[in-house]
Parts: sequence; structure tokens; C-alpha cells
Amino acid sequence: MAHRTITVLPGDGVGPEVTEQALEVLLTVADLYRHDFTVHRRLAGLAAIAEEGVAISDETFDLCAGSDAILFGAIGSLPAEQRKNATVRPEQALFRLRKDFQFFANLRPIRPSRSLYHASPLKPEYLDGTDLIFVRELSAGLYYGHLDAAIPGKPSEIRRTERGEEAVDTLLYTEQEIERVVRAAFDIAAARRGKITSVDKANVLSSSILWRRIVDRIAPDYPGVEYEHILVDAAAMFLLRDPARFDVVVTENLFGDILTDEAAMLTGSIGMIPSASLGVRRTEAGVFGLYEPIHGSAPDIEGQDRANPIGAVLSAAMLLRHSLGLPEEAAAVEAAVEEVLADGFRTVDISEDGAKLVGTRELGKRIATAVRRP
Ligand code: IPM
Ligand code: MN
Repeated sequence: MAHRTITVLPGDGVGPEVTEQALEVLLTVADLYRHDFTVHRRLAGLAAIAEEGVAISDETFDLCAGSDAILFGAIGSLPAEQRKNATVRPEQALFRLRKDFQFFANLRPIRPSRSLYHASPLKPEYLDGTDLIFVRELSAGLYYGHLDAAIPGKPSEIRRTERGEEAVDTLLYTEQEIERVVRAAFDIAAARRGKITSVDKANVLSSSILWRRIVDRIAPDYPGVEYEHILVDAAAMFLLRDPARFDVVVTENLFGDILTDEAAMLTGSIGMIPSASLGVRRTEAGVFGLYEPIHGSAPDIEGQDRANPIGAVLSAAMLLRHSLGLPEEAAAVEAAVEEVLADGFRTVDISEDGAKLVGTRELGKRIATAVRRP
């Protein structure tokens, strides 16, 4: 029996709805396998701003620090007119967690399920054999350029000059920041099909030239892994033309953000994709991490029991595997998702003629019920 602590930050929009289902699945696992999970629930994002005045409070942050893992829902955004010069913004919760816990490796697996080929805009013959994982750098790059006082420019800060308004974002990567994520990606490739694609824009950006140089330097340490460099524009094309060519894809923060939304459509819906953000601290049986579906807060369908909980549930499976050191339990959750899909149950985003259309809660409940101990 394992005793573990999980801090749950459901966040905004559909975040609480999908996280509820992921939590239900985790508690089912605890029950079946006789583990003892302590769960703390706290606010983050818009919800925290409304109640506590900040996107994430110090108390919540400290609670996360003392946990084995963080289960995260989704973060909302301020309406455009409020966003302009707001100093408190919901995204700050995510950025603080990612930066301060050094969650530098963001894993986003893309494995289209055969039973959902119909939901993808791609023809089925393009999807066959697709099984890839993105390793997105998550703690540096354009998202954080403003943190170094020596660098000009803050996101959302627009300044007035004699030329009119202007704004600047800074893309900075240090050698260490690149090296640690590239090594993590090579380690993952070595344990998979042994192929890695590094995505950059080295024909334009200095940070990409450095990135490429570091990949070339690390590659000889992994003789069993075949590697290649691809420019980000070409990568966007290959993801649609021949997704099965990829095994592990490693890239910087913003490229990874964009390409993973694109790649999500191979599975039929962005609601399907989980993620793990892994850092440096070891837990008792794994590594401290944050787990969240890659979709946003989807305020347009909030409170309607329509959101797809599978991305959140599969994030919980990744939590079991990477932070709690419970791979058998993780596999049981993934098998339960496949079983429920094979039985024809669908939320609206992945539905088809003749499917059994169900809501967030029912799909979550069916997955939890399908989790079995072998
Ligand atoms: C993601 C999201 C975030 C990001 C947003 C909410 C800031 O899109 O996790 O992919 O851009 O990293
Ligand atoms: Mn994104």
C-alpha cells in the first residue's frame, strides 16, 4: 500500500468538470489497489483571482510543493479589454508552477485510437501507425523572457513611442535549459522506438542554432537512438502528411504549444490529449509533476456536461505512472478508456452516427467502472 499526496487545482471553465472525473478514476484506483491518496483541493486561475486576489496563493503553492503530484484542470483567460494592462492574470498560476517547480519537460502523447478515426479530419490511411510523443520545453523561451530584468519587454505591455505603439517579447534559451530537455527526450526515445525529431527554426533564430548544436552534441551519448532536425514549418506539414514517421518530437516552448494542438486533431479532438509536466525533484517512487489535459477552459460549454473528460483521465494515468510510481495502475486506467471507447460511448466532440452519446459525468463514471485489477 502506497500513501501519496495529490494537490488538485481544477481551475476554470470546464476544468472542474473534467478534473472531477479524473479524480473519481484516481479514487477508484486507490480503492481497487488499496492505496491511500490524500487529496487537497485548491483554487487557481480566475477562480482564485475572484476569491483570493491572486492567480495562485502562496498557501496553495506551498501545498503543491509538499505533494507528490499536482492534478490540474484548465485555466481561463480575462476578457480582452481587461487583459490589456492587468497585473493579475489567470495564466500566472500555470507560469508560476511551471517556472518555480522547473517543470521543464512537458510530455504530450498522441496515439489515435482506431475507434475514433472517424472523428479526425484526416483520412484513416494517414493515421495508421501513428504513435508519437511530444517533449515540449516548458520552463523557458518566449513565455518567460520578461522574467529577466536585463531583457526588455513584458508580455502584454504595450509601449507608446514616437513611432506609435510597440511591444517586444524575448526568446531566450540557456545551454542548460536546452540540454536538460533534450536529454529527457533522448531518454524517452531510448525506451521507445529509438527515433527522435528535434524541431527548430535554425534558418532564422539564434536560439534555434544553439538548440541544434546542443542536440548534435548530446546525440552521440545515445548510439541506439536515430535523430534528425526538422524546421518547424516543415514539421507542421509532416504532422499531417505522414504522422507515423514520428516517434519522439522535442521542441521549444511556443513551437511545442502550437504543434501539439495541431497533432491533437489526429486523435479526433483536443479533449483526448493528456500531458505530464515533469521537473527535477524526486518523489518517493517517481518525479514530482503537474498533470493536465492540453485543452483550455472552453467557457462556451462550461457547466453543460459536454466536455470530454478523457484528456483529464489520461493525465491522471500519467500521474500514477510518473509521480506515484504505479505503472500497472496507469495501464489499467488507459485500458479502461479504450474499453469504453470500443463500447461506443462518446462525448459530443468525438461522436458519430450511431454512437452512444453521453455527457462528461457519464463517460467519466463508465471509465471508472471499467478500471480493473488484473
Ligand atoms: C497549454 C496552454 C497554455 C500554454 C496557456 C493556457 C497559457 O495553451 O498548456 O498548452 O500556452 O502553455
Ligand atoms: Mn496550448
